[in-house]
Amino acid sequence: MNDMTSVANPKTPTLPDAQTVQSVTHWTDRLFSFRVSRPASLRFRSGEFVMIGLLKDDGKPLLRAYSIASPAWDDELEFYSIKVQDGPLTSRLQHIQPGDQIILRPKPVGTLVHDALLPGNRLWFFSTGTGIAPFASLIREPQTYEDYDQVILTHTCRDVAELEYGRQLVEHVKSDEMMRELTEGGVDKLVYYPTTTREESPKMGRITDLLRSGEVFRDLGIDGITPGTDRAMVCGSLGLNNDLKEILEGFGLREGANSDPAEYVVEKAFVG
Ligand SMILES: Cc1cc2nc3c(=O)[nH]c(=O)nc-3n(C[C@H](O)[C@H](O)[C@H](O)COP(=O)(O)OP(=O)(O)OC[C@H]3O[C@@H](n4cnc5c(N)ncnc54)[C@H](O)[C@@H]3O)c2cc1C
Ligand SMILES: NC(=O)c1ccc[n+]([C@@H]2O[C@H](COP(=O)([O-])OP(=O)(O)OC[C@H]3O[C@@H](n4cnc5c(N)ncnc54)[C@H](OP(=O)(O)O)[C@@H]3O)[C@@H](O)[C@H]2O)c1
Repeated sequence: MNDMTSVANPKTPTLPDAQTVQSVTHWTDRLFSFRVSRPASLRFRSGEFVMIGLLKDDGKPLLRAYSIASPAWDDELEFYSIKVQDGPLTSRLQHIQPGDQIILRPKPVGTLVHDALLPGNRLWFFSTGTGIAPFASLIREPQTYEDYDQVILTHTCRDVAELEYGRQLVEHVKSDEMMRELTEGGVDKLVYYPTTTREESPKMGRITDLLRSGEVFRDLGIDGITPGTDRAMVCGSLGLNNDLKEILEGFGLREGANSDPAEYVVEKAFVG
């Protein structure tokens, strides 16, 4: 499924912090992406998240954290979302159409930013599920290619269809003339490593297992991860984040923050 609709006649804003939906793409029955207008005053660093939402029946806002999936230079804002059938927000958000409005609080924050890492040679983006969203922003960010010699995006999902948003994005980043110009061809440094855990695909397995066994290094022709050369950003479930923290610390990397940059940073893709 890849069903896209675009905005025709945006309605006049009526919500607090209202932004207008420009386009919506449904990827599977559990995943969709959408683009909204960008507040003129909004400045953010690629990789950060904001609170977005809808008004509840009682007129109060219902807000959830969402990574901005578009890069900081983009005129619009893109989001990549789960559809939780009984989820308070996404049971309704999944039905938005171009021209509809959502609430967007213009206060971006987050740890998956270049400023939270010390300089290095190779940057790993480790993601599962919708955890690819901040990296969808960062792989379109010119600084990513200015700062590193190699950029490796890993994305692990249960099924092949759940990889499609990331697969198309990487294809676009590598082939798009404007991206090549923006990054001065730096997109050639980008390596994409998708894996599935339930449905058969060319590369199967949890990224944690593939790191522990060294299979990912053999596949990519890399000696391993060391604190002298490698930097990492991690975004997935709590379980994935905790397991990867242990693995990265085993390689000698230390967790960084905006106020105290180090060799890796982590952010939850969702709570629960
Ligand atoms: C820092 C941060 C950034 C986030 N960025 C995104 C994003 O870019 N895209 C996105 O879809 N969600 C993101 N989330 C999750 C998001 O905030 C909501 O939880 C999600 O939109 C579901 O909202 P809900 O009200 O429908 O259900 P909730 O009541 O929020 O969640 C119900 C249950 O659904 C499951 N769930 C929630 N979100 C996800 C998810 N993303 N993937 C798999 N299972 C999930 C969990 O088991 C959760 O307990 C982020 C969360 C955090 C903390
Ligand atoms: N994706 C679906 O089709 C589906 C359908 C209905 C309900 N749900 C529910 O929705 C929630 C989120 O599902 P999701 O698929 O988006 O996210 P998820 O459960 O976090 O899984 C996403 C990917 O991450 C892997 N993973 C999970 N924990 C890991 C860990 N500790 N280390 C390494 N890899 C790890 C999973 O592998 P494994 O497959 O090995 O776990 C899967 O490939 C879950 O509660 C799930 O039960 C999902």
